[in-house]
Amino acid sequence: MKIFLDTADVNVIKDILPTGMVDGVTTNPSLIAKSGRNIAEVIAEICALVEGPISAEAVATDYETMVKEGEKLAAIHKNVVVKLPLTWDGLRATRTFSDRGIKTNVTLCFSVAQAMLAAKAGATFISPFVGRLDDHGADGSLLIEEIRALYDMQDFQTEILAASLRNTAHVEAAAIAGANAATLPPEVLKALVKHPLTDKGLDAFLADWGKTGQSIL
Ligand code: E4P
Repeated sequence: MKIFLDTADVNVIKDILPTGMVDGVTTNPSLIAKSGRNIAEVIAEICALVEGPISAEAVATDYETMVKEGEKLAAIHKNVVVKLPLTWDGLRATRTFSDRGIKTNVTLCFSVAQAMLAAKAGATFISPFVGRLDDHGADGSLLIEEIRALYDMQDFQTEILAASLRNTAHVEAAAIAGANAATLPPEVLKALVKHPLTDKGLDAFLADWGKTGQSIL
């Protein structure tokens, strides 16, 4: 499963890049607002740092303006993926970009039916929002399983990009369900490596090693 960072904070991306785990980045209007920066500038900077798909979201709600915004975002860099909402206008814009060979990420997906429409529109990625579905009293991780089953059964090529992931359990469930990618807030990515038994085991090994008085170097 590919791992994307869900942030528009360039310094955070720089900090995590050396782990070698970052295959792409996703942003949304809230993350751009949080960064306090101009969208074109921040997307260009992220594209220069990370070799992989970088999602930048259109904010118009009508088809014509959405396409104009998407064209502008796609012109920033060849790796920009135009993020579009799961509405009829968003799906129409998805088809337009798909026909032109421009990659898309259809966002705000909360049902199998929506995922099916996005795939039929030619979306490169579908973003089911796991955490927000859980908040709503549903099972977000189950939705990833169901979309995987549908896409496999119907031979849809759209990649499942698990989004709105809040914890390691969400990430594990997405991976096991067969998501092609998961976009993680930086703190969730950092948490993936942690296990108390790893820390305990390392402490014990180092304590015993100290007793030997040896040095490997
Ligand atoms: C990414 O594409 C989504 O916009 C993001 O994962 C949403 O996460 P949130 O529900 O925590 O805001």
